[in-house]
Amino acid sequence: MSISLIKPGIKVLLVDDEAFVAKAMTRILENEKDIQLFHCQDERMAIHMVNKILPTVILQDLVMPHIEGLKLVTLYRINKNAKEIPLIVLSANEDPVVKASAFALGANDYMVKLPDKLEVIARIRYHSKAYIRMLQRNEAYKRMRLETEKREREASEKRAQKLRAEMYNREMKIQKKFIDSFAASIATAIDEKSPYTGGHVKRVVDLTINIAESINNTNDGFFKKIFLSEEEIEELKLAAWMHDVGKITIPDHIIDKSSRLETIFDRIEAIKIRFQLIAKNYQINYLEKYIEALKKNLDINSLENHNVDIDKLKIEFEKQIKELNEEFQFIKMANDPGNFISDENIDKINKIAKKTFIIDGLEETYLTKDEIKNLSISSGSLNNEERKIIENHAHMTLKILKNLPFPENLSNVARYAGAHHEKLDGSGYPHGLSSDEIVLQQRIIAIADIFEALTARDRPYKIPMKISKAISIMESMKNNGFIDRDIFDLFCNNKIYLQYAKKELSPEQIDC
Ligand SMILES: [Fe+2]
Ligand SMILES: [Fe+2]
Repeated sequence: MSISLIKPGIKVLLVDDEAFVAKAMTRILENEKDIQLFHCQDERMAIHMVNKILPTVILQDLVMPHIEGLKLVTLYRINKNAKEIPLIVLSANEDPVVKASAFALGANDYMVKLPDKLEVIARIRYHSKAYIRMLQRNEAYKRMRLETEKREREASEKRAQKLRAEMYNREMKIQKKFIDSFAASIATAIDEKSPYTGGHVKRVVDLTINIAESINNTNDGFFKKIFLSEEEIEELKLAAWMHDVGKITIPDHIIDKSSRLETIFDRIEAIKIRFQLIAKNYQINYLEKYIEALKKNLDINSLENHNVDIDKLKIEFEKQIKELNEEFQFIKMANDPGNFISDENIDKINKIAKKTFIIDGLEETYLTKDEIKNLSISSGSLNNEERKIIENHAHMTLKILKNLPFPENLSNVARYAGAHHEKLDGSGYPHGLSSDEIVLQQRIIAIADIFEALTARDRPYKIPMKISKAISIMESMKNNGFIDRDIFDLFCNNKIYLQYAKKELSPEQIDC
């Protein structure tokens, strides 16, 4: 309970055991509408009354039956609610010593009873108003202090928030720098693993970002309302850096298989030596027959006619060597992944393979089963098992990345990176996603990856492709529903490939 400071009224508490005093005071104040009078006849209840009514002034008698008035003055001043309330001692005692004691104990005024009506009212008003003004000042000061404290608290909270935001941004920058550098290191490791595809990942990153920025800069057509935020571009960029991370699991000789017979070395060399050995066998065989024939032709004691045709032996030997050379040249042709192997070619490979020669007394075939299998690959250098291992890299990318605790703003990196070989018609890998399941970011990386792979000029087993040919291949991929039509059209119409080509391709490749 507290005094209303908006419309404060004057409350007088009269503490006096004499009823006539109370009556007199009631009469004195009866016409004063703004003054309320409360009377406490039993001084033992005085403090209780003070706490209950919160008077604006106390009129205190000194001579009382239970507690001496001066003692009460002391008690008011130690009471929380009463210590500031103006206290007017109302006493019949005119002794200056008593008056001085009363003031010394905390009384604010002293009146000899019964005083004049006007004086009483004036003093009551004067002390009450001074007390109310003090309360109002205190309240205003308290409110001002609270508001200042609130403002200071808010300002300090704002400073703390700003500081926290700065620290967060600083940490984010450090974290981002670390993630970017780490991703670039991993990508470099993958590219270094394959000297023939070195720089592939970095080039795919460049193309991906070029496409994304072009989408953002397009103000009409399909991409009018599509915009990738700075954070989304960062996420896409990291996904592009990571898209081939699964290649780390592919054996080196498969990643770079540049001929059909290649394992950890190109086995055409082994076949060459084998055929040289076969040629030597033919030569030895021929020479043995030649010496035998010479001996027989010179043996005059023999009764039989041994006139062996030596020239025929030579013709036969030369025919064998010629045929062997032709067979080797044919195998060499079949080993080149750029040549298509027809069913007819496969029959010929099998025919050659079945032929035998003797080494260390053992009969061996011209070609092993694995050599036949690899030479019979119709196009490219990879057999089915190797193709599956290569294709598995997309699955491995997903597997490696999905367990990493990426921050919230990079949470799609694994999903975007792992889908770069998915096709919109559902025939891609690793999951055969349908077009509904392949989002914009995945479609962008897929197009960047294909264009880079087609035009790459650092693979010794293939002639760098001209842009026009790469575009025409991708055009048919678009028409077959493999890649995104709108992104590819943007790629062509905005000549995104050109700015890339000037930086990465040889002038001979730039033909459009
Ligand atoms: Fe890939
Ligand atoms: Fe790739």
